Amino acid sequence: METIREETVMRTVSARVPALDASTLEQLISAAVAAPSIHNTQPWRYRFVPATSTLEVRAATERTLRHTDPAGRALHLSVGAAVFNLRVAIAHFGWEPVLRLLPDPAEPRLLASVRLAGPPRTGSAHRGDLYDVIRRRHSSRLPFSDRPLAESLRAELADCAHQEGAVLRFPDTQEAGRLIQLTAEAERRDISNQGRCEESRQWIGGTEDGALGIPDAAIGPLDAEGHLPVRDFSALRRSGLPPSQPFEKRPVIAVLSTVHDRSANWLRAGQALEHVLLLATAEHVRCSLLHQALEWSDLRWALRGSASGPGHVQMLLRLGYGPQGPATPRLPAAEVLRDSDKKT
Ligand SMILES: Cc1cc2nc3c(=O)[nH]c(=O)nc-3n(C[C@H](O)[C@H](O)[C@H](O)COP(=O)(O)O)c2cc1C
Repeated sequence: METIREETVMRTVSARVPALDASTLEQLISAAVAAPSIHNTQPWRYRFVPATSTLEVRAATERTLRHTDPAGRALHLSVGAAVFNLRVAIAHFGWEPVLRLLPDPAEPRLLASVRLAGPPRTGSAHRGDLYDVIRRRHSSRLPFSDRPLAESLRAELADCAHQEGAVLRFPDTQEAGRLIQLTAEAERRDISNQGRCEESRQWIGGTEDGALGIPDAAIGPLDAEGHLPVRDFSALRRSGLPPSQPFEKRPVIAVLSTVHDRSANWLRAGQALEHVLLLATAEHVRCSLLHQALEWSDLRWALRGSASGPGHVQMLLRLGYGPQGPATPRLPAAEVLRDSDKKT
């Protein structure tokens, strides 16, 4: 793996602010890229600006899913999740992360900047052990047990989303059933949508160099009883994928939403998503995402409901206890950092 060059790194001017060396920069970026992203497209690139001690996060728009995510909402969620990891890692190494979303209206691809400021004055804004679980968190598309999530844990997870400017609700069984039906309808539509099927084919099964996309090993079984519409990745079932298995009878579904639906809200929703996922991981709770209905505007609208939270739904999560999901590869930190210097 190519290592990050020393020239990209600065010594910060103030004696109060810890210096950033090449190895720490690499660790910050590899924490960021461990975030979830739609179809594992990893639609981000990073640039360190020594003069201001700022890490800039740009959208890798060439990896937008044109058919599945034409508005780039899922791309923003993915980048938001990476920004949350970056904030956690920056705090872990002793700086205060000062975040600006969409800092330059003249450059819409610049989605966020995080300045490495002096040590936190009031302590970290999140639980101290989240850095340790960044690389342990994986999507788990496997069946979970029927063990419910304690009310106190649900409240803690909702608080994580709230801290990032989003709302996380746990609908009752009836409402969860309605959301699952809408997801099943999205699955049916996906299967007969040529553009989406072709797009899926590019990303599922892994890409040529193996560092992007979802490898077969990370794709879970379908629900043998047909109740839970886990993503079929557009009917790409091939031999070698796991046989169907029964899933939990009463899946624990959580709905993540925001009051408004602008790009800044999508970035906040992404940060909220990752905050929730890291806390869940720290508490040994597994998660997989059910995003299919969000990809059809009428179905996304129908996901709204008083029991699902206010405003605009950004993600459905399925949470529970079960086996850890397998790791999915990432581009090396040096590659996404180096790429940032290219004028694209
Ligand atoms: C916006 C967004 C939408 C996603 N949608 C789904 C989905 O519908 N089904 C699914 O199984 N995983 C979904 N994922 C999870 C990604 O496939 C996963 O994060 C990626 O493959 C990397 O794997 P990891 O989460 O194990 O690190 C989504 C992730 C994001 C950020």
